[in-house]
Amino acid sequence: MPQLPAPDFPADVRARLDADAKEVISRYPDSRSALLPLLHLVQSEEGHVTRTGMAFCAEVLGLTTAEVTAVATFYTMYRRKPSGDYQVGVCTNTLCAVMGGDAIFESLQEHLGVGNEGTTEDGKVTLEHIECNAACDFAPVVMVNWEFFDNQTPETAKRLVDDLRAGVQVEPTRGAPLCTYKETARILAGFPDERAGAVEASGGAGPASLIGLRLAKGDLPQPRVVHPRTGGPQDEAPAEHLSSHDAPQETSASDPAHPAGPTAEEGE
Ligand code: FES
Repeated sequence: MPQLPAPDFPADVRARLDADAKEVISRYPDSRSALLPLLHLVQSEEGHVTRTGMAFCAEVLGLTTAEVTAVATFYTMYRRKPSGDYQVGVCTNTLCAVMGGDAIFESLQEHLGVGNEGTTEDGKVTLEHIECNAACDFAPVVMVNWEFFDNQTPETAKRLVDDLRAGVQVEPTRGAPLCTYKETARILAGFPDERAGAVEASGGAGPASLIGLRLAKGDLPQPRVVHPRTGGPQDEAPAEHLSSHDAPQETSASDPAHPAGPTAEEGE
């Protein structure tokens, strides 16, 4: 049976979204490029991307609903069903998993009584596995509405979700102050975060991420580089081959008797 057309937004909401969409679309030379921010925009209205939201995006961008659906279902940042004010994502990719991410996820499942993508009965917290968020320096990482909570343990993560459910203000380890999922979606749609101090707090990498840069600038003592086999300084590497699997230690530059490529006589 063919699916009925999606209902439209109420008139006042539609008028507001039309104005917002116009502003977003004007930032791009080709209107279809505005699809990702517009999906965030409709998500900021309803808390997830509904058929109504997708039909709106299709209409204002001149796309088919199939094209919009294909994008909305591909990216995990778009939620397809109603969920909590706070999306608590536990990174269970390799590094976080071995550093305790798996244990955190299991303890939160038990503590909250929900599984992956499950929402607590009070509608406050949705728990989910998330992929690596490039914060491996601070593993294991938990993200709430895409703000970082670094170096977590099962105990700190349980305290975090308890505070979120109780309405206690929690501070991310770094980055902007926490806001609800709908508010986050509006910021991701490209509208300025006008909360006091949000812009100042959102920039900058954490100290663990900056160590390489500080080393390169000479701000830190140079690390001692050891040879992988001898454990001694790297420049005292053995000259001879240790096994038939080792790469040759001598190149044509260091061994003129065996040059690479055609010899002078062969080239004439
Ligand atoms: S593996 Fe968790 S942030 Fe990279």
